[in-house]
Amino acid sequence: MRDIIAIDGPAGSGKSTVARALAQRLGWSVLDTGAMYRAVTVESLRQHIDPHDSEAVARVAQSAQIRTRPRVSINGRDVDDEIRSEAVNVAVSVVAANVAVREAMVQRQRALAEDEPGGLVVEGRDISTVVFPHARVKIYLTASLDERARRRGDEGHESVARRDHVDSSRDASPLRQAHDAIALDTTGLSVDQVVEEIVQCLKNTTSN
Ligand code: DC
Repeated sequence: MRDIIAIDGPAGSGKSTVARALAQRLGWSVLDTGAMYRAVTVESLRQHIDPHDSEAVARVAQSAQIRTRPRVSINGRDVDDEIRSEAVNVAVSVVAANVAVREAMVQRQRALAEDEPGGLVVEGRDISTVVFPHARVKIYLTASLDERARRRGDEGHESVARRDHVDSSRDASPLRQAHDAIALDTTGLSVDQVVEEIVQCLKNTTSN
């Protein structure tokens, strides 16, 4: 098993920024799993598939070639900018609630970790609870809704709140804090401060 730091939390809690900075600090790689669900959403919309058509969306997810680095692409098409569009913000929660899509993504995420020669920081909603329950460090990032909406900029308060509600109340791997995850409220903290806290958590696991 690779060295894995799992980071979960709602939209705007700082996962992506913190995961990138942490990976850089440790010299590890980073995996943004939200980008994978977003890429499947972009490709489904491009094929004019209704996000609620679970079978058709699942076929897209199962057959797609997805890369997240250095830029996000699906089936060889760069979608790095498109995955942040308003249309994707609206549809991605529906796509992410699709059980078959989740199975396909989780399988890929585990395979990617297997292929990774060094440590890996993975961020998403179900990383500590489902994808890597044996990760070395599990972090649950939170922040106030006001702060999270501010960080998401154009997406807006209402859209962030709606997405959180859908992500936390769905049947398939809902967003929740793993029983052994460390909760970190990032409201008012700098990226460096959060990274430092997680590095300390990592050090504590080595000294135990
Ligand atoms: O982190 P993000 O906002 O880019 O994630 C986009 C959507 O994907 C989010 O609404 C929830 C979903 N998601 C998920 O269900 N499981 C993950 N591991 C990552 C993201």
